[in-house]
Amino acid sequence: MVDITSVLPDLGGALDDVAIGDHYSAGVGSPWLRANFVSSIDGAATVENKSGGLGGEADRRVFDLLRTLCDVVLVAAGTVKAEGYGAMILDAASVEARVAAGLKPQPTFAIVSGSLSLDPKSRVFADAPVRPLIFTTESAPPNAALSRGADIVVCGATTVDPVAMVAELAKRQLTRIHCEGGPSLFGSLLAADVVDELCLTVSPLLVGGESSRIAKGVVPDTRTMSLAGILRSEDTLLLRYVRTRP
Ligand SMILES: NC(=O)c1ccc[n+]([C@@H]2O[C@H](COP(=O)([O-])OP(=O)(O)OC[C@H]3O[C@@H](n4cnc5c(N)ncnc54)[C@H](OP(=O)(O)O)[C@@H]3O)[C@@H](O)[C@H]2O)c1
Repeated sequence: MVDITSVLPDLGGALDDVAIGDHYSAGVGSPWLRANFVSSIDGAATVENKSGGLGGEADRRVFDLLRTLCDVVLVAAGTVKAEGYGAMILDAASVEARVAAGLKPQPTFAIVSGSLSLDPKSRVFADAPVRPLIFTTESAPPNAALSRGADIVVCGATTVDPVAMVAELAKRQLTRIHCEGGPSLFGSLLAADVVDELCLTVSPLLVGGESSRIAKGVVPDTRTMSLAGILRSEDTLLLRYVRTRP
C-alpha cells in the first residue's frame, strides 16, 4: 500500500486508515456536504473523458476511505455513465470501519438526473444493497421502470435544487453527504452554496487540451475556502478545504 503522510497538520510518519479518517473527520458539522475531486496540476478534471487517468494509488485510497465516512454517496448522471458506476457496494473492511463508527454498513447511493435517462436494468439498481435515491425535476418524463429500483425524489422545476435536495436527504437522516461529482453537479452545488468541503487530489500531471475543470456553470460569487489539511503521497497532494461562511 502506498504511504500517505501529513504536511498540515504534521501528524508524523505514514498514516494508517484510522489516522486518515480522523484527518477527514475533524471539524465536520451536520449536515455536511463534502465533494471529492481529482485534478491535474494544470486543472484538467479528465483524461479521455474519465477521471481514472488522473488519480494514482493515493487518490484511490482516499477515494475509497471517504466512502466509509458518509451516509450517502451523491453522484450526477453524467459521471455515473462516464465512469461506469455499478452498485454502491463497499468491501468488508469498509463495512467494518463504518459499523465501528456508528454508520450503516453500506451508504445510500443518490443520483442526480434531470432527464431520468438512466437504465433501470443497470447494476446500479439491480445489485444495490440499499435502495438508491434519484433526485430529479418536475419536468422529467415519468419512468415507471426506474421507480421499481429506486426512490425518485422531485426537487425543483427544471433543474434539481441543491438546497431542497440536501433537505430531502436530511429528512432521511442522510446528513453526511459525500459527492463524487461530476463538474456540472458540483457547479450547481457551488451556485447554491451548499458545499461545506472540497477534497482535491492534485495529481502530478500536465494534461493540456480542452478537458473540463472540476466545476462547470455559473457560480454567482466566488466561494472562499480555508485550507484544513494537506496530505502528501510522493508527488501527489491531497488537499482539504472547508467553506468559510460569514
Ligand atoms: N476529476 C474528477 O474528480 C471527476 C469527478 C467526477 C466526474 N468527472 C468527469 O466529469 C465528466 C462528466 O461531467 P459532467 O459535468 O457531464 O457530469 P455530471 O455533473 O456528473 O453530470 C451531468 C448530468 O447530471 C445531471 N445533473 C447534474 N446537475 C444537475 C442539476 N442541478 N439538476 C438536474 N440534473 C443535474 C444531468 O443529468 P441528465 O442529463 O440525466 O439530466 C446532467 O446532464 C466525466 O468525464 C467524468 O469522468 C471527473
